[in-house]
Order: sequence, then structure tokens, then C-alpha cells
Amino acid sequence: MSDFDIEAVRAQFPALAGDQVFFDNAGGSQTLGTVIEAIRDYLLRSNVQLGGTYKTGKLTSERYDAAWAAGARYVNADETEIVIKFKASRYSQEDITNPNAQVFGASTTQLFRNLSFTLAFDEGDEVVISSIDHEANIAPWVDLAARQKLVLKWWTPSLSPSSSTNPNPQLLPSDLEKLLTPRTRLVACTHVSNILGSINDIGGIVAAVRGGPSPRALVVVDGVSYAPHRPLDLGALGVDAYAFSWYKVYGPHIAMLYVGRRVQDQMRTLGHFFRKSNTLEEKIGLAGASYELLHSLSATTAYLPPSPDDSRWASLASHEETLQKTLLAYLVSRDDVTVYGDTTGDSAMRVSTISFRVAGWRSQEVVETVESASVFGFRWGAFYSVRLVSGLLGLDDDGIVRVIDEVKSFIAAMEKHIPKRNS
Ligand SMILES: Cc1ncc(COP(=O)(O)O)c(C=O)c1O
Repeated sequence: MSDFDIEAVRAQFPALAGDQVFFDNAGGSQTLGTVIEAIRDYLLRSNVQLGGTYKTGKLTSERYDAAWAAGARYVNADETEIVIKFKASRYSQEDITNPNAQVFGASTTQLFRNLSFTLAFDEGDEVVISSIDHEANIAPWVDLAARQKLVLKWWTPSLSPSSSTNPNPQLLPSDLEKLLTPRTRLVACTHVSNILGSINDIGGIVAAVRGGPSPRALVVVDGVSYAPHRPLDLGALGVDAYAFSWYKVYGPHIAMLYVGRRVQDQMRTLGHFFRKSNTLEEKIGLAGASYELLHSLSATTAYLPPSPDDSRWASLASHEETLQKTLLAYLVSRDDVTVYGDTTGDSAMRVSTISFRVAGWRSQEVVETVESASVFGFRWGAFYSVRLVSGLLGLDDDGIVRVIDEVKSFIAAMEKHIPKRNS
């Protein structure tokens, strides 16, 4: 086992004091106690409009700015510019010369949709969309292609690069290269599939685009399933846009979108005509994020290791690896179980989101049977990745069973309650 201090971690999440096992936390994590307190404290002590010159007005602006900077710092997105320049002028009528690189909103789904409404390409230009993504990073681009008469190219990986019994479709840069042409304007894909758990090589994907026939094509990445598991350094990753949702990273129900400077220059504003449109926030922030939730982001990031090099990230990955290897070894040992995604459990290959089906059992039935006899709470279905689950994997509406972490007693529950059936 790793040196990950699981008891110390548990103690920071009030909801974990009960007996429910949250096996559905790929859908949304539990919330830090400090985050819950911060939301309450904001509403209690600083619930006024931004930009006021009175004492409480100043406090709310300071809190908003601090959280904004914390979010930027966490993903290594041009933090100094945001803190120093943006802070002073955000709420005034002065020109804001500094474009910040991130914007907050209700959800990743909303932010990608907003982004898509700011971009304009020429008729006949091409967009390449991964078909294994959550619909949040598919629908906006399918819609954009239809509105602007673009050519839509699906990036559909082969089912089993590494194993014939357990499908493991992966977004390989070598497959992407075949789809790129001088007219490619956008490539949309996920960092980690919310079904498969496999980590895609975003660095390799960016390199394929930059070294390909259309280096200026935008690379738009969904980081929602990656962010809870590994550190982010968007400066180093080289993507053009990247979004994830803080409610999956122990924080509040807000999401954050990073957009590089080069893309910002191409974006039209969605803001009111009388508003300035110099910054990303002004262009697509649309009245900003919930203040109390944004304030609580300072508490969220304070809990997370401050830099990608922090050794706690390695401890987390190693802890996850122990758990996922244990569960995968059990699932693979059953000849009536099909795992979707990597089965090695190597933390360089995957995160601990694990999906499977049991022959002879409906996925709904597996979930309900184990839930009725245990404290596990988990889910079945397609989890908004319908093009992957129904399309590529060919599964019916029942989809897959998805679980994460806390594995030993889960294995015991599966063994006890989900016996092999003649299918
Ligand atoms: C991979 C992935 N992308 C996008 C989303 C959508 O995030 P949000 O609920 O913030 O719109 C989810 C939500 O589960 C997800 O798992």
C-alpha cells in the first residue's frame, strides 16, 4: 500500500462519517468540510454585489478575486497576470488590457456550449470530434458544424488495440493524424473517458495537430474525468481550451474553462452590446459564476497539492493503482465479466473509473442487487457517453456498471450477491 493517509483524508469530508459508500463518485465527489464552511461564510459575511466601495463590498470583491486567482494558479494558467492586473480593474469601467485565461460557469456542458457560440469558421472547414467523449464535448461541435456548414469527421478508435475480450478503445495520435487536413479547424477530445478511465495522450495529440497540415487547428479537451485524479499544468499541455467541473474535485458545483490567448482573439463576445469584450470573462462569462461557490474554490485548491511536482500527487496515483489493480484483477478473473477500458491497472494508463458488465445480468440488476444488500451506492447506464456505449461498444440502454475506489468490500459484495449465471 502507498503512503497515502486515507484516514486523514476521510476526516476532511463530513459526508464520509456515515456508512454509505459513495461508489458513484465519478459522477460527483463528496465535498470538503472547508468548502461547505466557505460557502456558508460567504453568504453570512459578504453576500453583496462585486465592486462596491464600502467595507463588505470590498470584502466580496477580494474573495472573488482570490478564488479566481486560486483557480488559475491551480491549472498553471497565467496566474500573475490574473492576480495583478485583473484584480484592480475587473469591476471598473476602465479598459482591461489583460485577458485572463479562464472563465467560470455553471457546468462544463454550459461552458463548452458557450465557447462554441463564439467561434466562426468557413464553410467546408473541418472539425474532428472524438466519438468516445461525454456529449458535453461533442454536441456543441456537431451543432457548430451544422450551423456553419463544416465537414464533421468522427475520430473513432478501434475497439481493442490491446485485448480482444475486454475492449479498450483509445484515442491514439496516429489515428488522429489520418483525419487531419489543411482545412482542419478544431479537434475535440477527452483527457480521460468517463466510462473507460483510460488516460489519453493529450501531449501527443497536441503535437500531432501542431506538426500536421493545419497547425492552427484548435485543440479542445474535456478534463472532467481527469482532473479529480491527476495534477493539471495547462501551460505545459499546450491545449487551446480545457474544461473541468469542480464538483468532481471535492469542490462546489461550478466548472472552469481555460482558453488560450490565441483562441480568445478569434472569439466574438456573447455579452450585452454595451459591455466591454476584451477579456474571456467579458466574452463568455455571462454574469459570472455563483459568488459563494467561487469563493469556496479557495478552500478547494488549498486542500489540493499546490504544484504538479508535489509528491502527494504520486502518492494519490499509487494509492489508486493499488485499488484499481485489486478490483481489475478480480473482474478479469471472472470469465462472466467484460471490462471496458484498460485492465492492467497501471496508473500511467488509467484512473480508477472502472466499467464492466456481467454476462447474464442486466447492469441495472447488478447495481440494485448489490445495493439492496450492502452500503454501496453506484450506477449503471451510459453516463452521457451514448456514442461510446451504444454506438462503439454496441450495448443496449442498460449500459455498463460503473464503480470507483473502496474495492475490497465491493469485491466481497459482488462475490456474494452476483453469482455466475448461464447467459
Ligand atoms: C467526462 C465528462 N465530461 C463532461 C461532463 C459534464 O460536466 P458538467 O456536469 O459540469 O456539465 C461530465 C459529467 O459527468 C463528464 O464525466
